Amino acid sequence: MQKFRKIGILTSGGDAPGMNACVKAAVHRAAELGIEVIGINGGYAGLIQNDLVELTEHKISNIVGESGTILYSSRCPEFKTEEGMQTAIATCRANSIDALICIGGDGTFRGATDMTLHGIPSIGIPGTIDNDITATDYTIGLDTAINTSTALIDNLRDTHESHARVGVVELMGNECGQIALYAAIASGAVACAIPEIPFNEDAAIKRILAHRAAGKRNMIVVVAEGLKADDGTPYAEVLNQKIKDAGMDSKFFRAAHVIRGGRPTARDRVTAARMACYAVEKLVEGKSNLVVCENEDKIDSMDITLALITDRMYKNKLKPGDLDRFSPAELETMKAICEKRRAEIAALYSVAEHIAQ
Ligand code: F6P
Repeated sequence: MQKFRKIGILTSGGDAPGMNACVKAAVHRAAELGIEVIGINGGYAGLIQNDLVELTEHKISNIVGESGTILYSSRCPEFKTEEGMQTAIATCRANSIDALICIGGDGTFRGATDMTLHGIPSIGIPGTIDNDITATDYTIGLDTAINTSTALIDNLRDTHESHARVGVVELMGNECGQIALYAAIASGAVACAIPEIPFNEDAAIKRILAHRAAGKRNMIVVVAEGLKADDGTPYAEVLNQKIKDAGMDSKFFRAAHVIRGGRPTARDRVTAARMACYAVEKLVEGKSNLVVCENEDKIDSMDITLALITDRMYKNKLKPGDLDRFSPAELETMKAICEKRRAEIAALYSVAEHIAQ
C-alpha cells in the first residue's frame, strides 16, 4: 500500500461528457481512503502554470450530470518539452502532489507516462468521445456523443422528409469511425462511410436513387470526419456533391463540436465512476503508468506504453523499433486486441449495411 496524501487530477485534450462524473467519483473514493484530491486547471498547462483548485464539497456537488469539465482542458505543446516537464514536476513537488490521475485520450496518456517516468506515479482514464483507445472497449463520452448525434439526425430527418432531401452528416471521431457507425445504425442511415472500412460509393449512390424511385423522401448518410478524399477534402463534402450530381437535393451538415456537449448519459456517468474508483485504488496499491480499461464490462487496466503502441499497431502507424521492447506474449496480446477491434467494427458495419438496404 502506498502512503499517498494528495492526488492531483486533470482533464486534457478534447473534453468529453462524463469527465465531471469521473472527477467527482475520484474525490469521493480518495476521501474514503484518507486522501485529498486536488484539481489541476486546464490539463497539463495547469501543472506548468501552477493553476490548482481545491475540490471542495461545494465545488464538486451537482457536477455528476454536467458536461464539459469543471477543470477545463487544453492541448499543451509546452508540456512536451523537457523544460515544461520539469516545471510540471516542480509544481507537483511544491504542492505535495504524490500522484496524478489524467483523464483524456492518447495525448493525455503520453503525458501520464512521462510524469511517471519523472517520478510522479500517474494513471490515465480514457475520456474522449472518439473511443479510439484500442486497449479499452469503451471511452467515457462515447455514449453521450452517439445519443446527441442520433437526436440531431432525428431532427434533420423531420425537415428533410418535408423537402424530400438527402442529409449528409459528418460526425467527429478523429481517425475513428465509431461514433458515425453507431449513430448511422441508431438513425437508420441509408449509407455510412468510415475510415476503417472501404466505402462503396457507387453502390451507396445507386441505393439512394433506388430508394427515391421507390418513394422514400428523406435519407440520411453518415460520414466520419476522419475520412478524407485523396486531396485531403473531407469526404463528407465530396460525397454530398456526388449525390447532388446524381440529381438529388442533398444538404451537408457538419455536427462538429456540438456532439461533445450535452448532459452525460447514465452509461457515461456510471463508467466514469467505476473507472475513477479503480484508478484511485490502483494508485493506492502502488500501481502506476496504467490506462484504465473497460473490457467485457469489467474494469481493468493495461500498461500505458503497451496501450499506446497497440493503438499504433491498430492504426498501422508503427515506427521502426516500436515493437522491440515487447515480449512475444505481449505482442500476441497486442495483435489480439487489434483483431478484436477490427472484428467488432466489421460486424457493426455489416449491420449498418443490412439496415441500409
Ligand atoms: O478527440 C476528440 C475530438 O473531438 C475529435 O473527435 C476531433 O477530431 C477533435 O477532438 C477536435 O479537436 P478540437 O476541439 O481541438 O477542435
